[in-house]
Amino acid sequence: MEKILVLDFGGQYNQLIARRVRDNNVYAEILPYTTPIEKIKANDYKGIIFTGGPNSVYDESSPHYTKEILNLGIPVLGICYGCQLIAWMRGGRVSTAPVSEYGKIEVTIKDSLLFKGIPEKSTVWMSHTDYISEAPTGFEIIGTTNDCPCAVMENTAENIYAVQFHPEVTHSEYGNKMLHNFLYLVCKCSGDWVMDNFIDKTVEELRSKIGDKKVILGLSGGVDSSVAAGLLSRAVGKQLTCVFVDQGLMRKDEGDFVEKTFTSLFDMNFVRVNCQEHFLNELQGVTDPEEKRKIIGTEFYKVFWEEIRKQSDKGFFAQGTIYPDCIESGKGDADKIKTHHNKVEMPEDIEFLDVIEPLASLFKDEVRRVGEKLGIPKELVWRQPFPGPGLGVRIIGEITAEKVALLQQADAIFREEMAKTGYESELAQFFAVLPGVKSVGVMGDHRTYEHLVILRAVTTDDFMTADWAKIPYDLLARVSNRITNEVKGINRVVYDITSKPPATVEYE
Ligand code: XMP
Repeated sequence: MEKILVLDFGGQYNQLIARRVRDNNVYAEILPYTTPIEKIKANDYKGIIFTGGPNSVYDESSPHYTKEILNLGIPVLGICYGCQLIAWMRGGRVSTAPVSEYGKIEVTIKDSLLFKGIPEKSTVWMSHTDYISEAPTGFEIIGTTNDCPCAVMENTAENIYAVQFHPEVTHSEYGNKMLHNFLYLVCKCSGDWVMDNFIDKTVEELRSKIGDKKVILGLSGGVDSSVAAGLLSRAVGKQLTCVFVDQGLMRKDEGDFVEKTFTSLFDMNFVRVNCQEHFLNELQGVTDPEEKRKIIGTEFYKVFWEEIRKQSDKGFFAQGTIYPDCIESGKGDADKIKTHHNKVEMPEDIEFLDVIEPLASLFKDEVRRVGEKLGIPKELVWRQPFPGPGLGVRIIGEITAEKVALLQQADAIFREEMAKTGYESELAQFFAVLPGVKSVGVMGDHRTYEHLVILRAVTTDDFMTADWAKIPYDLLARVSNRITNEVKGINRVVYDITSKPPATVEYE
């Protein structure tokens, strides 16, 4: 398989660069700038991309790389800091720009392989305070802006290209076309990274690794473990056992949906452990959010491992780890591998032959593409993020069976109405919350004193910040009417109009 190396110098868009490369059907992997050159030489990379980064190349403590990398005969594209680094490595001059550029800027370009099919003037995304004040020998300047005399330079003899702007962000009008040109015209890739190939190749690899042994997978009903289950099922069928712990804090009918999907559409052994009662007992009287989270997490694994102990023939242990869980940071702490949030601690008395992570090379959107190709229903493949502790963090204060049932009903109505209008596709996440507060109401001639429910809906790209969604009033009105009419025990509905920050998306 053809591979592009994204050498990470700490830029905020490094993952985006790799994803854009993969969108162009070429596999990209990210390695930190501390990776030894021998490791890079040992891989047959078709091209190398230096990412951006927040530093100044002339600062000695900034991330640098041995100059040898430019002499390997592999095409190189430098982006932002990576662009300045190439100039600096080859004896050009990098200085603080008299005018920093930030945002959408017009660039004027000359004829180049990199710009095939791109007009002379277009908009690009800039974000820099240093610039190349003198291009190195052997490089021709092929792009300029009003404030940046060397916005793009190339050395066609050595296939080295450098752009000051960020082609990977969508604000760069022809950014993707430019990356495509680099991949196909400069690196001469053929585009063999397609999901059908991935599925076939992975199924083959899984079969040869697993042989006639068994595999156990913890299925949460989330996207990653569901797709891992689909792949493993295709590879080894009944040799796979999925263990699904239903703690009773999932959304309405979700547990049944997961069970039905995997027992009717896929060949595997499916073990469902229903333990709502156990969880509610453990959570009785607990109101502190952190304590609730801790109990739910601890009990989940207790139940899970207890179930695993019952499996006589264990074989391999599979997990839905995905690529962002494994990427090492390029911010100077590359020795610290990012904590695998999908990885679980295994008790000492349980032994497996090995751990299998069939999705460890995929980004989330690729995992979804694989899921769709495997025939996993859209509801699972496009499932919105759902916290591990489930509705436990959406019921404020003590969790009881009655509150779980109330919240599940209200939340299901909210989801149904959003799906009917198609409005859900505009949102990153939406759900109902039960604050455990009662208020006075009136129903016919009667005074009521019942629960209040909060609707929460946000738009966001990355969940680090989020905006509350401006849902049309008539849609909110329908949801409110239906909840107060259909859910016995709720007499008031409010809509949360707080962004993140200062609020978080979840309530606890
Ligand atoms: P907050 O509430 O921190 O949430 O703004 C950001 C995103 O993370 C999700 N979230 C979780 N996901 N386990 C998870 O897997 C958790 O414990 C958890 N808590 C929050 C939340 O739903 C939102 O998408």
